[in-house]
Amino acid sequence: MNRLALLVLAAASAPLLSAPAAAQFTKPDDAVAYRQGAMSIQDAHFRRMAAMANGRVPYDQATAVANAEVVDFIVKLPWAAFGPGMVGGDAKPEIWKEQPKFKELSDKLETQAGQLLVAAKSGDVGQLKTALGDMDETCKSCHDSFRKK
Ligand code: HEC
Repeated sequence: MNRLALLVLAAASAPLLSAPAAAQFTKPDDAVAYRQGAMSIQDAHFRRMAAMANGRVPYDQATAVANAEVVDFIVKLPWAAFGPGMVGGDAKPEIWKEQPKFKELSDKLETQAGQLLVAAKSGDVGQLKTALGDMDETCKSCHDSFRKK
């Protein structure tokens, strides 16, 4: 890649890197591994709560809160790894063509993770179930549009 292209890329990705801990990637494979890792972690903790909400494992408020805290934190991480040119994995090219839609769904997920934490802290399993259901729709909706099946 020539210097101009690198400068253009750096400028384009600058807003993503403004947060202190925002991930920076030198090659797409690193970004793919990072975002898949973050997705897998949020998935694991999401499922632990779903198992409680569905009665497959006994409900325990402290466990629900601990898992919701992990999700509320991890849910912020994958997006910086979808920066310009970070193609690969199961990410569809549409991500880079339909940025506003992708951003809308990722923002929505972050908002819902906050609501999930509130629901977990309420100690009401019904609220937890509703919050998980709302979030699950956003996971599915983004995967349907932006993840290769
Ligand atoms: C804004 C879009 C978006 C949202 C919302 C989203 N995902 Fe994803 N997810 C993706 C994309 C894109 C990939 C493919 C990433 C890749 O392979 O590079 C992915 C991949 C995954 C993977 C596979 C990871 C791997 O190891 O390959 C899991 C599991 C996953 N998501 C779980 C979830 C769960 C659970 C939620 C909701 C709590 C969620 N995702 C919400 C876009 C999203």
